[in-house]
Amino acid sequence: MSGDSHLPKALQGLRIPAVASPLFIISVPALVIAQCKAGVIGSFPALNAREAEGESPLLDAWLKEITEELDRHNQENPDKPAAPFAVNQIVHRSNTRLERDLEICVNWKVPVWITSLGARVEVNEAAHSCGGIALHDVINNKFAKKAIEKGADGLIAVASGAGGHAGPQSPLALISEIREWFNGPLLLSGSIATGDSLLAALAMGADLGYIGSPFIATDEANADQGYKDMIVDSSAEDIVYSSLFTGVWGNYLKGSVKNAGMDPDNLPDGDVSTMSFGSDREKPKAWKTIWGSGQGIGAVKSQGTTEDLVSRIEREYHAAYARLQDRMAV
Ligand SMILES: Cc1cc2nc3c(=O)[nH]c(=O)nc-3n(C[C@H](O)[C@H](O)[C@H](O)COP(=O)(O)O)c2cc1C
Repeated sequence: MSGDSHLPKALQGLRIPAVASPLFIISVPALVIAQCKAGVIGSFPALNAREAEGESPLLDAWLKEITEELDRHNQENPDKPAAPFAVNQIVHRSNTRLERDLEICVNWKVPVWITSLGARVEVNEAAHSCGGIALHDVINNKFAKKAIEKGADGLIAVASGAGGHAGPQSPLALISEIREWFNGPLLLSGSIATGDSLLAALAMGADLGYIGSPFIATDEANADQGYKDMIVDSSAEDIVYSSLFTGVWGNYLKGSVKNAGMDPDNLPDGDVSTMSFGSDREKPKAWKTIWGSGQGIGAVKSQGTTEDLVSRIEREYHAAYARLQDRMAV
């Protein structure tokens, strides 16, 4: 991709201007490797790598596998190298593994660090200590300012319609408020599932799109077949915004809420004090049986490989650009 020389090196040269966002449970090495080989930044939450009690850290094994496989790919394909990968850290007091996971990521020189649910100076310092960059996700302009004050290099604006924990603000409002004072790397998260939407994100002022839910319906995703099918069969009206499941507002598939015996159109509010990312994170219904998804999945018409998905978005992105050029020609 040309026109990206203002960005940090790790975000340059992508096939399309996009990061495949981290997905709890779903993002595993097979998916991350496929995303990077397809030319977008692949990512996973560090907490997805869970070893049994007494075993050596699975995060270490995953980083070894991803690093070695991408190195091998790059040696064999010097003219078409893989994109770098990212690791997501949940910076919340209930994440008791954070310090250990930071150390492992520094050892493997993780190139892109994505932080969620808390901005902390020491996490950004850990990223910088091994040559990495830190991107922090935010749902409003106030949190965006705080994140940059604490040393993040870039921001992910999580707008309304995003899968998983999502903000309530329009992407148009959020991006333009942040762009008034911030000219560093800015990503847009929320319902980007077509090349047209990706181009729109750039037109708004974002540098890159942050794409999650469409990857759930890929062959490489670690998701139940029923979940993949529901992503293919659903569209925006099948998504419910609720705080019930984790205490934080997020978007979920109504079909999964119904399957769990609840009425998606009459859900009570949740309690933020119950939010937990410790070893019991799998116990709550959220994510295992209540399936997260953004509103953009109407564009996902079938399951396929990660390469198929990135190819489709790339084709649409270039077609949308050509269409706009025609439209704006004088
Ligand atoms: C099932 C699911 C799990 C998610 N898990 C995480 C996570 O562990 N960490 C995180 O930072 N974001 C997580 N997200 C949010 C995504 O990283 C991203 O913001 C979102 O998927 C983008 O919106 P989209 O799904 O509409 O493309 C999750 C999203 C979904 C759908």
